[in-house]
Amino acid sequence: MRSTRFLARSAAPAALGVLGGCGALDGYQSALNPAGVQAERIYHFWWFALAIASVVFVLVIGMMLYSALRTPADPGDPEAERARTRTMTRWVVGSVAVTALILLVYFVVDLSLGRAEASLGRGAGESGLTIEVQGHQWWWDVRYQDPSPARMLRTANEIHVPVGRPVKLRMTSGDVIHSYWVPNLHGKKDLIPGHWTETWFQVDEPGVYRGQCAEFCGHQHAKMGLLVVAHPPEEFAAWYQQQLEPAPPPRTPQQARGLEVFLAHPCVMCHTIRGTPAGGKVAPELTHIGSRRMIAANVLPNTRGHLGGWITDPQKIKPGTKMPPNQIPPQDLQALLAYLESLR
Ligand code: CUA
Repeated sequence: MRSTRFLARSAAPAALGVLGGCGALDGYQSALNPAGVQAERIYHFWWFALAIASVVFVLVIGMMLYSALRTPADPGDPEAERARTRTMTRWVVGSVAVTALILLVYFVVDLSLGRAEASLGRGAGESGLTIEVQGHQWWWDVRYQDPSPARMLRTANEIHVPVGRPVKLRMTSGDVIHSYWVPNLHGKKDLIPGHWTETWFQVDEPGVYRGQCAEFCGHQHAKMGLLVVAHPPEEFAAWYQQQLEPAPPPRTPQQARGLEVFLAHPCVMCHTIRGTPAGGKVAPELTHIGSRRMIAANVLPNTRGHLGGWITDPQKIKPGTKMPPNQIPPQDLQALLAYLESLR
């Protein structure tokens, strides 16, 4: 009796812990907290699948208990033996039929779900926003497309979108296969080297949604996160306009020294800061790095301390990343950080 009570008392927190681990309670990076029509369909499908699986589970456990606890028929009685065989045959045939039916239902629901999810792209036409995303070990290169080249925009690891407008992602990879997954917004889509894949999504509630690379892509796969930031349309337009601007010029002598440090170190070989001679294309765009929430593909909050640690020894934080350590004298490092922070 005491052990039953103990089980009951520990089961509830354990269940809460499991759900919390899935993000069901805080809703951050969770397929159980949909923020768009497509994620909502997946959410309903998830509960439907869980309901069926739960019924099957309860039935199977019930039958196991029944067969373990029931009194076996007398082995010497041939009539009882034949009746047992008949009952068993009926149960096996019935279970196979029910299994086939469940699989058929899943198949039909899955097909119609896939069609419904794709309908967003078919209906969007010219109203959509197109963003190209290229996966790299281990970060996301984000390029906003526009008929006017002057309005094309490049950024990294943080995708801003307007709410209520369909967004098309055209995706590829620069090295190995990655997978784009923002659970609050849609299902997964692979990024494949030398091949373009497409997916559409729409966010209906403003907010910040965390995403994660969902295909093992090497040493730091787990540290390949991203954020989708959904704004009301006017706020998005303001953000876009601000991001199109080149980097603001240094406003203090320390920031000016910081720009010199940036240009004198290997940073300039890989990173772009528009409005300065730095035009490297193999690493994240830094023109407005100061305005981003996180650094290193959503690994660290964008604070001065973390940025300093990252620049000095990225291999300690994310071993295997392509960014080398940088030996920069303390005063120069502080100047560099002051400059990067000013890039808003
Ligand atoms: Cu990229 Cu896993």
